Amino acid sequence: MVKKVFQFLQPLTNKDGHLLFDGVAARELAKEFDTPLYVISESRIRHNYKRLSEELTRNYDKIHIYYAAKANSNLSVLKILETEGAHLDAVSPGEVFLALKAGFSPERILFTGTSVRNDELRFIADCKVPVNIDSFSELERLLKHVVPKILSVRVNPKIGGGHHDHCITAGPQTKFGLWEDETLKTYAKAKNAGVERFGIQMHIGSGILNLEPIILAFDNLLSMAKKIRDKLGITFEFIDMGGGLGVPYKPEENELDLCTFSNRILSLFKRRIVEYNLGTPFFCLEPGRYLVSDASILLTSVTTVKVTPFKKFIGVDAGFNTLIRPSMYGSYHHVLVANKVTSQEKEIYDVVGPICESGDFLARDRLLPKIEEGDLLAILNVGAYGFAMSSQYNSRPRAAEVLIKNKKCLLVRKRETFDSLVFNQQMVE
Ligand SMILES: Cc1ncc(COP(=O)(O)O)c(C=O)c1O
Repeated sequence: MVKKVFQFLQPLTNKDGHLLFDGVAARELAKEFDTPLYVISESRIRHNYKRLSEELTRNYDKIHIYYAAKANSNLSVLKILETEGAHLDAVSPGEVFLALKAGFSPERILFTGTSVRNDELRFIADCKVPVNIDSFSELERLLKHVVPKILSVRVNPKIGGGHHDHCITAGPQTKFGLWEDETLKTYAKAKNAGVERFGIQMHIGSGILNLEPIILAFDNLLSMAKKIRDKLGITFEFIDMGGGLGVPYKPEENELDLCTFSNRILSLFKRRIVEYNLGTPFFCLEPGRYLVSDASILLTSVTTVKVTPFKKFIGVDAGFNTLIRPSMYGSYHHVLVANKVTSQEKEIYDVVGPICESGDFLARDRLLPKIEEGDLLAILNVGAYGFAMSSQYNSRPRAAEVLIKNKKCLLVRKRETFDSLVFNQQMVE
């Protein structure tokens, strides 16, 4: 019997106590590809993109969705979104390189860097990728190389938001974006230098489930657009609200109501572009997490069950080298025991990895089915900032990635080997 096992709209099902992901048995995946293993569902990424796109175009027809590649820059993931018609938000020359490789044309990419080097700016400009400026000096340095046809500026809209302090990217405490005087100075300089087409952008943070800060900040961005139009006569081809749409990680958290999001943000947008005489710009957004988070799970094998006088630990083969979000942000990732999905006998455990640090945990104080060595765990919602933030710390080769495409399991990133650990090193004797 196949049953849904999780309240989130995810491709997870239960067949006789065993977990299936997008129709494929977790234990078969572990058997064929070994663990730790990131498993990605193509159909879920497409579904996430389509429902977002449909909800937005229902309210306004000039929409561009820039996928924030930093969330997951696997080439196959980029290709899926490229074929859906997405645009792409890149924050490094490497992401621009990957996006071009995946088939995005330069004009479908927007580069938003911070602390950008001159050679990086030259590379981006030479690729003909539009730049979203993050400091006045960045513009000055770009203009020494080229006068771009189109340019955008990242504005700090005074209000930030996000699931953790490290993820709040607007407001007084952050390095990101330009404040009003610098914004006006930057657009004036670009216009005087001969730039003819413009956009304006903000990104206030990541993992936002409560819409209020996004709406308030976006309203500030729109009034900044009006000031620029009034003072400098610039009209905008696009106005970009950035990313940040959150996803539920805990079973009790609610999903973002896409219909309400679309109605609220686009009614504000449409009202203000008429009121402020801003023409009919594209409405852009830059979701990362929202498109890919629930489209991936991490499979990890239980190597050790260890009981101390104080705690029961489940030792697994994925640590913060594989998934850093729990130890970096205290993030919650739901854990299922893939071979005991319906087991009733439960105990409280910490799930810990193989890294020699006490901060190496994937989950704490979780009520899980009674665990034995050899069991297989599935860590949910790891498609965003999962593999992308993984490392070789403790000299552990990185995990493999498998894509499920029409029930076929395709290896889209090989597991690293010991050779990967010495790649690029030169031993001096
Ligand atoms: C400029 C920019 N846009 C978009 C995003 C995507 O954020 P999220 O994955 O929360 O949607 C980020 C993430 O930090 C970002 O820096």
